[in-house]
Amino acid sequence: MSKPRIVIIGASSAIAEHCARLWVRAAVELILVGRDLVRVSRVAADLRVRSPHSTVTALEASFNDPGAIARLASALTAERPVDVVLIAHGSLPVQKDCESDLSMACDALEVNGVSPVLFAEAFAGVMETRGKGTLAVIGSVAGDRGRKTNYVYGAAKGMVERYVQGLQHRLANSAVKVVLIKPGPTATPMTSHLPQHGLAPVEQAARRIVEAIAQGQPVVYAPVKWWLIMMVIRHLPRAIFNKLNI
Ligand SMILES: NC(=O)c1ccc[n+]([C@@H]2O[C@H](COP(=O)([O-])OP(=O)(O)OC[C@H]3O[C@@H](n4cnc5c(N)ncnc54)[C@H](OP(=O)(O)O)[C@@H]3O)[C@@H](O)[C@H]2O)c1
Repeated sequence: MSKPRIVIIGASSAIAEHCARLWVRAAVELILVGRDLVRVSRVAADLRVRSPHSTVTALEASFNDPGAIARLASALTAERPVDVVLIAHGSLPVQKDCESDLSMACDALEVNGVSPVLFAEAFAGVMETRGKGTLAVIGSVAGDRGRKTNYVYGAAKGMVERYVQGLQHRLANSAVKVVLIKPGPTATPMTSHLPQHGLAPVEQAARRIVEAIAQGQPVVYAPVKWWLIMMVIRHLPRAIFNKLNI
């Protein structure tokens, strides 16, 4: 029997790397894609040591060229279908910098919104044709309601959520599963400049993501308490919301 074939886009992300560590507990074929071959190769080398029975390949790719993204998805699925695609890349901008420098806002919108959506669209088409597979995209609780402290990043993540909703609707009558993961603040390099208290351990986020993908859950908060927190934040009346420094 062939090994499950898993593609990770943004595979040098700490959350993605910890998902990969869980996946290689069984023998799998992993294809790790990153913008920097050195960084993604380092992750691949570690995973090979952890799982000699797995096959781990590292690839460098363009993350903002639609043609290159389409060609990558075709190339990776040409010989053998992919069972799981996890789209994990992202970057937390400084909100104030995005307000004063539109090129930073543009970069943040592209890397957190446009790029993940293009990768998802490229793989969704292949999975739809095959009628099988699980496509998982990492959004964020920041996409649930625009807040003054991070609304450019939040807008990009909100776009990912709206895109995933549409894709889930399109594929609802197929066997293809589309999973949106919304982590709360998690201890990774992305948050290393923030106070560390209250951040979820990255291992915990990874466990929840791998479980959600195995079950094909449509939307998961990681950890689950963020479902309740964001439900309250989403429903706060504007008069109260505007008084909060969040
Ligand atoms: N950590 C949190 O608190 C948190 C909360 C909610 C959602 N998330 C989301 O979770 C996902 C994983 O984040 P993480 O916490 O694991 O962060 P991380 O360890 O800092 O990883 C970020 C990843 O994104 C890649 N990346 C950054 N800018 C890029 C660009 N311009 N083009 C292509 N790739 C780029 C990085 O590549 P390099 O290694 O080459 O730099 C790396 O693979 C992201 O989508 C993030 O938005 C994280």
